[in-house]
Amino acid sequence: MSTVSGFVEYPVENVHRLIEPGPVVMVSTFDGRRANLMTNAFNMPVAHGALIALVLGPWDHSYEALSDTGECVIAIPSIDLAERVVDVGNVSGGDVDKWQRFGFTPAPGAVVRAPLVMECFANIECTVADDRLVEDHGLWILQGERAWYDAAKRGAGEFHHRGDGTFSANAATLDLRHRMTKWRYLTGD
Ligand SMILES: Cc1cc2nc3c(=O)[nH]c(=O)nc-3n(C[C@H](O)[C@H](O)[C@H](O)COP(=O)(O)O)c2cc1C
Repeated sequence: MSTVSGFVEYPVENVHRLIEPGPVVMVSTFDGRRANLMTNAFNMPVAHGALIALVLGPWDHSYEALSDTGECVIAIPSIDLAERVVDVGNVSGGDVDKWQRFGFTPAPGAVVRAPLVMECFANIECTVADDRLVEDHGLWILQGERAWYDAAKRGAGEFHHRGDGTFSANAATLDLRHRMTKWRYLTGD
């Protein structure tokens, strides 16, 4: 095993396990006939103003619907739903109706035809803002158009994939808003 300056080498193909991605989300799409649902952990905000980067590749049945319609909903589940959410990420919507199979309820949003997920505490209706990196990396830049939130469904909060089938819950919150002197405008409601 190699070492450098006292560090043991970490497999570079596993560094995504060190850089914790955004919360585990579900992406809902509608292909004109059926709505589908997939699980996604490679996502992050890229700019204030609801620009979101999300990896969704041609290996997913959802890819075609997102490509064709340019629309999706990012739904954020609480950790109470973790087992069913992982199951959604282990079955293709080309084979089964995952809403029915895993007990999720589609509901109309305001802007896009992909449905909101009733069981999730937040739903972000998105359109595709930039698809220039999709072919090479499956990386979509999405524009959040409208967002819907239900505090009562947040429960124990969102959860995070550690990259290997293990997940972490949110730890205690550290409130350092008073130190965000350069970014004070970000700290209000
Ligand atoms: C915890 C977890 C995280 C996942 N993250 C992603 C991801 O970020 N991007 C992706 O394309 N697929 C991801 N997947 C895989 C898809 O959810 C999986 O391919 C799913 O079956 C796609 O559904 P679909 O074929 O109906 O679109 C993840 C799966 C799990 C279980």
